[in-house]
Amino acid sequence: MKLKILGGPMREDSEEYQNLISFCQSSGQEISLEWIDGQYWLHSDDPKENPVSVMIDRELERHLSYFKKSSIHKEILARALGIKSGVRPKVLDLTGGFLGDSLLMLSFGCEVTTLERHPVVSFLIKSALANSQHPLLANLNYIASDAETYLRAHSSQEVIFFDPMFEDANEKTLPKKEMRIFRSVVGKDLDAKDVWALGLSCRPKRLVVKRPRLSVALGNTPDILFEGKATRYDVYLPKE
Ligand SMILES: C[S@@+](CC[C@H](N)C(=O)[O-])C[C@H]1O[C@@H](n2cnc3c(N)ncnc32)[C@H](O)[C@@H]1O
Repeated sequence: MKLKILGGPMREDSEEYQNLISFCQSSGQEISLEWIDGQYWLHSDDPKENPVSVMIDRELERHLSYFKKSSIHKEILARALGIKSGVRPKVLDLTGGFLGDSLLMLSFGCEVTTLERHPVVSFLIKSALANSQHPLLANLNYIASDAETYLRAHSSQEVIFFDPMFEDANEKTLPKKEMRIFRSVVGKDLDAKDVWALGLSCRPKRLVVKRPRLSVALGNTPDILFEGKATRYDVYLPKE
């Protein structure tokens, strides 16, 4: 059996179970999910590593308490998105993952639509959302979808945010634990350049691409760069 479910309410005749089984069968991957604290978590193939997921309410509270002491305007992601006093753009996050960036954007005060195409990651997001009740989640619209399909049907977007798993030779640092597990399950997003080009062709006010600091840009030279210690945000302004 390639799918292992440890505890929790999932039934073998449910649609979600069947989706996960189909993914395991078609990809040949072994997936192990454990029910902990009211939601499912993903085990890595290394038994020494703890399972990963996101505790959404806790993460949002952590951000909100941080922003009581520190200004949102100091955050490079906020500046990359074009956040200013009284300005909170609507963001389409094409790459949900464990919602790290979406939750940060929600805590900035943005309305966020988040997409995720991978069936296992999407299952984990839905499980985490069902275990959450933070009021800020009223501003989050989660959709299990591929970015290309969604953008072709909804091309009018204010700000598009894109954080694909896409490496280049300049990445020298080892990925964080969550990223390693992610990479083992999700693999590389080999269509990232095409998605970037499609996002740009939708002509949002901004297209923000998250990259490791030292890596090359996904597409053309960006109009603005925001650099942090390990991360860089490449901002494209297709309307200017
Ligand atoms: C690097 S992770 C994103 C991490 C996320 N920003 C966070 O903070 O947790 C990339 C995720 O985006 C998803 N993804 C990549 N390309 C996508 C696409 N074209 N459409 C939808 N989801 C995509 C992958 O399946 C993966 O879960």
